Amino acid sequence: MTVPLGVYVHWPYCARICPYCDFNVFKAKGRDAEAAALARAIVADLEAQRALTGPRELVSVFFGGGTPSLMDPAWTAEILEAAQRLWTPAADLEVSLEANPTDAEAGRFAALAEAGVNRLSLGLQALDDAALRFLGRNHDAAEGRRAAEAAARAFPRLSLDLIYALPGQTADAWSEELRAAIALGAEHLSPYQLTIEQGTAFDRAVRRGTFTPPDEDLAADLYETTQATLEAQGFQAYEVSNHARGEAARSRHNLVYWKGWDYVGAGPGAHGRLTLGGVREATTAADRPADYIRRVAERGTGFADREALSPMAAAEERVLLGLRIAEGVPFAELAALGLGPAHPRVRRLVELGLVADDPFRLRATPAGRQVLDRLTAELAAG
Ligand SMILES: C[S@@+](CC[C@H](N)C(=O)[O-])C[C@H]1O[C@@H](n2cnc3c(N)ncnc32)[C@H](O)[C@@H]1O
Ligand code: SF4
Repeated sequence: MTVPLGVYVHWPYCARICPYCDFNVFKAKGRDAEAAALARAIVADLEAQRALTGPRELVSVFFGGGTPSLMDPAWTAEILEAAQRLWTPAADLEVSLEANPTDAEAGRFAALAEAGVNRLSLGLQALDDAALRFLGRNHDAAEGRRAAEAAARAFPRLSLDLIYALPGQTADAWSEELRAAIALGAEHLSPYQLTIEQGTAFDRAVRRGTFTPPDEDLAADLYETTQATLEAQGFQAYEVSNHARGEAARSRHNLVYWKGWDYVGAGPGAHGRLTLGGVREATTAADRPADYIRRVAERGTGFADREALSPMAAAEERVLLGLRIAEGVPFAELAALGLGPAHPRVRRLVELGLVADDPFRLRATPAGRQVLDRLTAELAAG
């Protein structure tokens, strides 16, 4: 049986660029013609990549961004139809789409559900007007609530993104916000700690001294609050920043990444991982929409880069991603690194309480998942 496949489609346009965001994004204004050409190029790219992968079982399609909820739902339907024609859809195929919670986008939810989207990932970010203004969002809390309620009605599955560790945020207020988000009808929550990414407006504000990010102790307290509040609400932390009520509510697409399965990346800047003839390859599409469209026209795929990963590099990536999920990685998949349950580096981390004492799988403990960078660096150090 070949490795199951996910498809990631990157839609790079946004109505406004948020001051914390370093994703591959472009302002939508004035780019209607380019967007139409991009939708066609994405379909052509999928067709070209099908020639590489051969037949596979398709377990997930994820429209990420950027803001895919700004995409004409007819294009969403066309891209989805192409993916299902090219690969064999699993009976429980997950089709996710990231949306921003404005009234205009909520008005398209029915059409997106009709197109085949069965899981919406809504970027609520906060339920407080001052926090949303601070985050530079183009919606207020009331609009966010309306969009979440409309999404809960329109789609079988709903996930909400929230950002925490905002200046002045208390643990009580954050816990209350988490409970309010659940009450809107979500079965999956992705609470992200605000990170200051290089080159963003927030990064410049920090350098100018006009904004001080919360200190690490407060951020760690808020992380603990997240775990405790969500656990009490019946949500399991199946990954560092992902909590689901029950196994069926887990994001299949994210599991494709964390389990080391294959995924096709299409759209500007999209990454892919394809196992071809026993070799794992990393693909990266051209970042700028115009470059991507040109590459697809000239070469079939939109790849700017395609590289074979050594068995060692592939195993290191398995550790990096596998330790993010509660179930970890089977030692059998880490042969290239020589890591087993009795390996001295593993034993040391078990003694420190950062890795579970498990004969079959390399698994981070909840404490270990809080210091993943350190864990992966220690495990990969040859
Ligand atoms: C690629 S964004 C797309 C979502 C959608 N465009 C939106 O903004 O609602 C995915 C998520 O990443 C999170 N995110 C992006 N930048 C972040 C940062 N610097 N710190 C914390 N979370 C961030 C946000 O929660 C966001 O919803
Ligand atoms: S957070 Fe979402 S809306 Fe804001 S710039 Fe990033 S992708 Fe666009």
